[in-house]
Amino acid sequence: MNEMLEFLKFCYEDLDGEDKKVCFLYGALFPEDSDIFVDYLVECWKAKGFLHSVDEFRDASDRGHNILDNLIKVSLLEKSAVKRHVRMNKVLRSMALKISSEVLDHKILARPCEGLKQPLKEEEWTSARQISLMNNDLCSLPAISNCTNLSTLLLQRNNNLMIIPESFFLSMQRLQVLDLHATTITSLPPSLPCLTHVRALYLNSCKGLIELPSSLEALVHLKVLDIRHTGIIVLPIQVGRHHKPNVQELMIDVDPNTSWSDQVMKIITEEVSALTRLTSLTFFFPKVECLAIFVRTSPLWADLRFTFQFSVGICNSNKYHILDYFEYQLCKCLKYANDEGTHPVISEVLTKTEVFELIDHRNILSLSEFGTENLSELRACSVEGCKDIRCIIDGDVAPPHAFKCLERMDIKNASSLHCIWKGPVTVGSLGRMTSLTLFNCPELKKIFSNGLIKQLSELKHLSVEVCHKIEEIIIETENHCLDPRTLPSLKKLVLHDLPNLRSIAPNDLLIWPSLERLDIASCPSLLKLPFTSINAINLRSIDVEQSW
Ligand SMILES: *[C@@H]1O[C@H](CO)[C@@H](O)[C@H](O)[C@H]1NC(C)=O
Ligand SMILES: *[C@@H]1O[C@H](CO)[C@@H](O)[C@H](O)[C@H]1NC(C)=O
Ligand SMILES: *[C@@H]1O[C@H](CO)[C@@H](O)[C@H](O)[C@H]1NC(C)=O
Ligand SMILES: *[C@@H]1O[C@H](CO)[C@@H](O)[C@H](O)[C@H]1NC(C)=O
Ligand SMILES: *[C@@H]1O[C@H](CO)[C@@H](O)[C@H](O)[C@H]1NC(C)=O
Repeated sequence: MNEMLEFLKFCYEDLDGEDKKVCFLYGALFPEDSDIFVDYLVECWKAKGFLHSVDEFRDASDRGHNILDNLIKVSLLEKSAVKRHVRMNKVLRSMALKISSEVLDHKILARPCEGLKQPLKEEEWTSARQISLMNNDLCSLPAISNCTNLSTLLLQRNNNLMIIPESFFLSMQRLQVLDLHATTITSLPPSLPCLTHVRALYLNSCKGLIELPSSLEALVHLKVLDIRHTGIIVLPIQVGRHHKPNVQELMIDVDPNTSWSDQVMKIITEEVSALTRLTSLTFFFPKVECLAIFVRTSPLWADLRFTFQFSVGICNSNKYHILDYFEYQLCKCLKYANDEGTHPVISEVLTKTEVFELIDHRNILSLSEFGTENLSELRACSVEGCKDIRCIIDGDVAPPHAFKCLERMDIKNASSLHCIWKGPVTVGSLGRMTSLTLFNCPELKKIFSNGLIKQLSELKHLSVEVCHKIEEIIIETENHCLDPRTLPSLKKLVLHDLPNLRSIAPNDLLIWPSLERLDIASCPSLLKLPFTSINAINLRSIDVEQSW
């Protein structure tokens, strides 16, 4: 093993740039072969100052993602099966630990996932620069008096960790990253203000934590503060009004079960709007009016590089499910739930939005009501449970090249949806769409109307499920004189639970040069497929039920 490690070390030594090396070594803090979320990893690298070649915290993100790509390219990290996650394998992690043990400045104490119940001895803490005891069963922490050189402390997911000793942070002036997420702590100790160099503080999913001490103001270098899924309700007021630390990235989410009065929420929104150095904000606005306060009063809104993940209105999950399908980072996201009609501020936010999720929305007939011209930046769009929506795009008011950036569209539980595109289809529209998913649209008859299909030369994935009125996928009467190379990129076709589906395409003359996978279930009326050994030469697999 030692020889093997020596050999692998060449890959490491070959890395050009000290920043790449330290970024790689940081990966050893995580359990071997575990999935590490890349945005979190890059955020930690930034907070550690590894990406020092760039001044702005925001630019550091790009540098971080470049380094990540590079480490993957030289196989020091690997992409995990979960999108936007990476892993470090066992052997490389051993190597990283070995290298770290030889470099004084990076001495690592990494014992994640070992079922530890007792904290380690104080001597072990004292000599380490970076400590990871994540995913253990620690119930307590040692009373530490001499941890002056500690720069990273990862204690996340110690489900039984309820109390941090009062003087615990006393000697940790150099600590830069502190992760306590998903622990059961109920308060932060009086020694918190000693953490004068902390840049990233993770308290997300600390359900028992309901307030933060006002001493938070002492953390003058704090840039990332994650308090999603906590019980905290008063923090932002302190952050904003009284001291304004340098916070550049702020994430606040609200448990839908927490009921904040409109008045409290309005105050919090005003405080957040007063943070002038933010480059990124994840925030929940209970009502459109609160979003309007932010857009109207925050100077950040005019900054083109400002990134956001906004949720407006209560919904079950704050996660953007559609983002799971993207390899790259999309940073401007709006989730809008449980409201009705249109609102100017929604249209305005949409002009900058890349990812839009519209959930349980009432009283609009089509997305075009927000202004098709305002939707031109969308890369991903999801419409879910909107019972009044009759079409997605109204062609009578759509400009040419509508939805020109849209790559993915998901439509679920749209009980009144009749078609995707109503009226004349404008040129260049939906030209980049690669994936279309339709689920439970009981009134939907026409998927590709008025020759819409001609625009979809990039479509790779089409999935139609639980749409009981669908009789034809490509409707003959709506698509005259089809080019044989229609849907030239289509790779995967999924058809589930379509009791009235009779045909996929009008004839066998179309060719399907890219089609690789067919997945058909519960389509009892479909008795013929338009695919032959001549027109679908790349077809590799057909999944169907035995009875069919
Ligand atoms: C901390 O440790 C250093 C080095 O071991 C030692 O010189 C110093 O006296 C210690 N300080 C305290 C307060 O124990
Ligand atoms: C911290 O690092 C300095 C410089 O490397 C060293 O002199 C000191 O002893 C260290 N402190 C502890 C507590 O190990
Ligand atoms: C809200 O409360 C209900 C009932 O107490 C619970 O079942 C549900 O899981 C809670 N929702 C969230 C998101 O915590
Ligand atoms: C598009 O957004 C702008 C505001 O940015 C708004 O004035 C306009 O009315 C919107 N278009 C429609 C059709 O709503
Ligand atoms: C869609 O509707 C079905 C049945 O009506 C329901 O079980 C499901 O939770 C809904 N899904 C979404 C995403 O709204």
